[in-house]
Amino acid sequence: MTDLTKSAAMGEGGVGLLSGAESHAAALCSACAKGSLLTVEHLSIADVAGILATTTRLERMAAVERARLLTGRTIALLFYESSTRTRTSFELAAKSLGATTTLVSDKSSSIEKGESLKDTGLTLRALGAEAIVLRHPSSGAASLLARVTGLPVLNAGDGMHQHPSQALLDLRTILLRLGRDASTVDAHALDGVTVAIVGDILHSRVARSNAMLLPRLGARVVLCGPVEMLPEDALGLGAGIAIERDFDRALAQADVAMMLRIQKERLAGFDLDLAEYVARYQLSAQRLAAIAPHAAVLHPGPIIRGLEIAGEVADGAQSAIEQQVAQGLAVRRALLARALGVQA
Ligand code: MLT
Repeated sequence: MTDLTKSAAMGEGGVGLLSGAESHAAALCSACAKGSLLTVEHLSIADVAGILATTTRLERMAAVERARLLTGRTIALLFYESSTRTRTSFELAAKSLGATTTLVSDKSSSIEKGESLKDTGLTLRALGAEAIVLRHPSSGAASLLARVTGLPVLNAGDGMHQHPSQALLDLRTILLRLGRDASTVDAHALDGVTVAIVGDILHSRVARSNAMLLPRLGARVVLCGPVEMLPEDALGLGAGIAIERDFDRALAQADVAMMLRIQKERLAGFDLDLAEYVARYQLSAQRLAAIAPHAAVLHPGPIIRGLEIAGEVADGAQSAIEQQVAQGLAVRRALLARALGVQA
């Protein structure tokens, strides 16, 4: 088993990424409630177009009208890993649609006493939750929860596997940033666009979801990082993906540079020379100005200033990082309405 397949198969219900992944994913989904979002593999182009069209409609709707859409509905947020952006945006999105939310985290619940994911899910369902937003350190946890509860589950990040709502909000950010139509997308929506994804690809569910989604809309994805963080088999994630080890060469091709944090929590036993990493892969102001003065800079956060990205770049005019956060709220509204079967 290669590094990438191994990492994606961790945990119960994990799915492989290379051969057979599509059929396995489809089999998992057939047992899941409609409206679940477990992996970008489950989304057709029509689904993506529908989600982005709903996002636009909800954005244009008056706040009072929007707040009636999920009145009386209950959504549980179940978080086994820390989160700022994802958790807050799902919560605010649910509230802005009028839903009642409850947050359960591993730090302050019976999970600390050893309660299983299955029992926690069944408890939330018994308390009236109609959908669950789950973040979990094991790949495949969202599929497992969807199967055992029968509820729509929105995967808010499962181990090193998938972060599908992040890929959708990144897609919308890129479309808006490049002045393209974000309401009516098709398989050519990103034709001619090159997205460089740079850094710790191996441990990043964000990289994996974006690399699997963006080429289906016409983008070329160039993955860039050291071999320890970017094994060659990443090419097997799908068509439209290339590997470029040299950051300057990757950046020179990029309309969008998506920088990634080094996932220290998933790097056990790996000795990284940080000074060398910074020299080779940091997006510094000088590098950006010299090589890609027009590229949009994305980062899913949390950003580590001075490591993968210089503070001036994060705060600079080319940065779309705050726009990504705002798009998280907008896109997650549409995903929650979809999960609960509400037409918006
Ligand atoms: C994630 O949850 O995967 C984040 O958005 C990216 C990160 O943790 O670096």
